[in-house]
Amino acid sequence: MDPNVLLKKDMKEKQELVNIILDRYLPRKDEYPKEIHKALRYSIFAGGKRLRPYLTLATYQMYKEDLEPITPVAAAIEMLHTYTLIHDDLPDIDDDDFRRGKKSCHIMFGDGVALLAGDSLLVNAFELITYAGIDDALKVQFVRELATDGGIKGLIAGQMVDIESEGKKIDKKTLNFIHENKTAKLINICLRFGALAGKAPAKELAIIEDYGNKIGMVFQIVDDLLDIEGSASKLGKSIGKDAAVGKATFPAIYGVEESRQMARDLTEKAITGISQLGDKSLRFRILAEYLLNRKS
Ligand code: IPE
Ligand code: IPE
Ligand code: MG
Ligand code: MG
Ligand code: MG
Repeated sequence: MDPNVLLKKDMKEKQELVNIILDRYLPRKDEYPKEIHKALRYSIFAGGKRLRPYLTLATYQMYKEDLEPITPVAAAIEMLHTYTLIHDDLPDIDDDDFRRGKKSCHIMFGDGVALLAGDSLLVNAFELITYAGIDDALKVQFVRELATDGGIKGLIAGQMVDIESEGKKIDKKTLNFIHENKTAKLINICLRFGALAGKAPAKELAIIEDYGNKIGMVFQIVDDLLDIEGSASKLGKSIGKDAAVGKATFPAIYGVEESRQMARDLTEKAITGISQLGDKSLRFRILAEYLLNRKS
């Protein structure tokens, strides 16, 4: 079968597993107080690639057959990711009106509700982790690591430097800091959690993390490129915003061609690295190519 068809099918199957958990966990939209439940369901089920939970489930699957124990962890990361999107779109951050092919959460429900919906997705993500079918010690480790990489030593620091760099000339080190923190760390942790829960040997874990860091950087470089070259309808979000507000992006600093080349080089290295795991790395090799060439 065509590798991309295979990947699509695999992603769809795992998306469904994650959606079941999210639907089961989140309050019904007619439950009191309705407005917030409507808002967070609106954003969670707006569509979205579910890349991060896919990474957790696919990594775990290299070591274990039954995905059920880890699915709450995968779903929790998607909740946290969705909170970052809701808050990222707010007027005082990126001021974006479209997300996942629909109006942004704050456009639909107002800034206050969007803030609270984001807050709840963030906080309740940690609750959901505690329901996973894994050892308590591992749950504690996941909670701690997700708070670290999603918090002020990670994603929030990246977002902070992203907004304070707007309209400024920044150096390459700062650009790397932004991308690594706002995006790559969360992507990497998805793989790490899958591998840790699957009890991957330390050597394999290191290979997986190296791959995770590389595809995490590629993911944000490609996001930056798509803001220039992509199609708003395919992406489900506005384009041209980064240049308009002077965002610190790879193409802004290196130019489009060099950025694309850097993404290609990193992808190639990621594929070479993960290939050390042999046959079980197949879907990760396909995935790295897909992430480089994605249009949405
Ligand atoms: C968008 O993430 C935010 C970035 C880190 C670039 P995705 O492109 O994974 O968004 P969804 O989840 O598919 O909507
Ligand atoms: C988003 O970066 C990173 C996070 C939300 C943590 P962007 O601001 O480039 O993401 P998009 O382009 O709005 O999805
Ligand atoms: Mg942003
Ligand atoms: Mg944004
Ligand atoms: Mg972007």
